[in-house]
This record gives sequence, C-alpha cells and structure tokens, in this order.
Amino acid sequence: MAIAKKETLNLHFEERGSGLPILLIHGFPLSGRMWTAQLEKLSKSARVLVPDMPGFGDSPIREGAPSVDQYAEDCLAVLDALDIMEPAVIGGLSMGGYIALAAARLVPMRIRGLILVSTRAGADSTEGKAGRDKTIAQVKERGASVVAESMYPKLLSPESYQSKPAIAAELQEIMKEVTPDGVVGALTAMRDRQDSTNLLPNLHMPVLIIHGKDDQVIPHAEAEAMSKAIPHNDLHLLDKAGHLPNLEQPEEFDRIVGKFLTKLG
Ligand code: MLT
Repeated sequence: MAIAKKETLNLHFEERGSGLPILLIHGFPLSGRMWTAQLEKLSKSARVLVPDMPGFGDSPIREGAPSVDQYAEDCLAVLDALDIMEPAVIGGLSMGGYIALAAARLVPMRIRGLILVSTRAGADSTEGKAGRDKTIAQVKERGASVVAESMYPKLLSPESYQSKPAIAAELQEIMKEVTPDGVVGALTAMRDRQDSTNLLPNLHMPVLIIHGKDDQVIPHAEAEAMSKAIPHNDLHLLDKAGHLPNLEQPEEFDRIVGKFLTKLG
C-alpha cells in the first residue's frame, strides 16, 4: 500500500503491474478492496492503480468540503505521486464513475480511455438530494451501518446472493469498514455533484461502458443513454450481474476491460 501526499491529502492506493496505467475508482459505500480481482488479473498486462477514496478503506478523511471534483483531483494526485504524466485510463464504478466523469471534464488530456461501470451521467434529482440529506442525518444519529444495511440487499443481482455466497460475504466485510465521516463526505459530494450529461458528446477519448442487466441501484437504461450520447464507445450489458459486475462476473468483466486496454495499448 502506497500513499499519495499533497497538502491536506493522504490517499492510500494499491499499485501492481507495469505498462499502460489504469486507475480504478471504487463505488459507495465500498473501498479499493472491491477491485481485488482486477488488481490481480489486469496487472498481468497493465499498471493497475486502486485508491481508497477519503474516509474509505485505509484513506483518512481529508480536510475541506468534500466534492466529486475534489475526489477527481485526489485521484490525479495518485498519478502525480508516481510521476505518471502520460495519459492514463480512468475507470470508476457508480460513485467512481461520477468521479471519472469529473476527471474527464477537468483534465481530458490526461485521459487515454474512460471506463464507466454501473453509473449515470445525470445529477441527483430534488428527490434524490432529499434522500441523501435523510441518510446523512441517519448516519450522524445511528452510525455508518445504516447505509451498509440499506444498500446490501440492492448491490448484487438477486440471483448472486444465492449463487455467489462468498462474494456476498466479502461485500459485507468491505462495508463493515466504512466510517461515518467517509460516508457523510461521499453522500455530500454525490448530492452536490454536477450534471455530466452535456459533457458526454464532448468526450473525445475512447469510452467503455459496462453495466449489469440486473442492476437494482442504477438501471441499465442509464448506460444505454450514455452510450447514445458519447461519440466513441463500446457498451456491454452483462447477464447475471447487478450493481457490481466486476465482483459478480469477474471473468467476463476482466475480458472486456482487457480487450479495451489492448486496443488502447
Ligand atoms: C454507488 O454505488 O457508488 C452509489 O450507489 C451511487 C449513488 O448513490 O449515487
């Protein structure tokens, strides 16, 4: 585990492999641990970087107001810490996808390819923002387990809970590690994030979109809408996968990402 340090930032990340850099950003309320299989598999042909976002996994909460743009800057600080000046592949799942889109808006020249997994381009609706506020209040009152308990039944496809008990157990372990500060920070950042819909036609790097057909958190129609709006993209809708296709269908997921990296390489 390495650390990217920058003024108020202490971001922990894993690094494995060599070649084209690919940075994978985790979803909420998880940590870089959700990419363990990808760190192993993709590092055979690429330099895989997996940060824990502030307040998740081994990264402490950062000073200052949390924002998705700030999280994107934090990820770029990982590249800076390693002197990676060549354009890198940035991938993110759900919240990680919001962060990857923010990075593509802020520094498109630093991005060789973009991978959007189980995510959407739009901002939160008024109702969605009110839901975030309600959850923030509950976490402050009762702790971070409130979020883990409410999200756990929605993260995998209904079938995966039966057919993949080890994945379901690992998911619970990852969510046990979340802290109230990390959760409140990320909920605030996601609530206030910019709408990226208008960015989509202006994404000029190759884009890979992956979404589970059984996603109960973000419907796959969101992936199809992004695919229609982005000039150069490949869309893959995976069978027998919910919100976490990299965990539920790791072989298929890694094969698709590996092919994308080969084309970019
Ligand atoms: C995630 O999986 O990262 C979150 O569910 C995204 C969100 O709450 O918008």
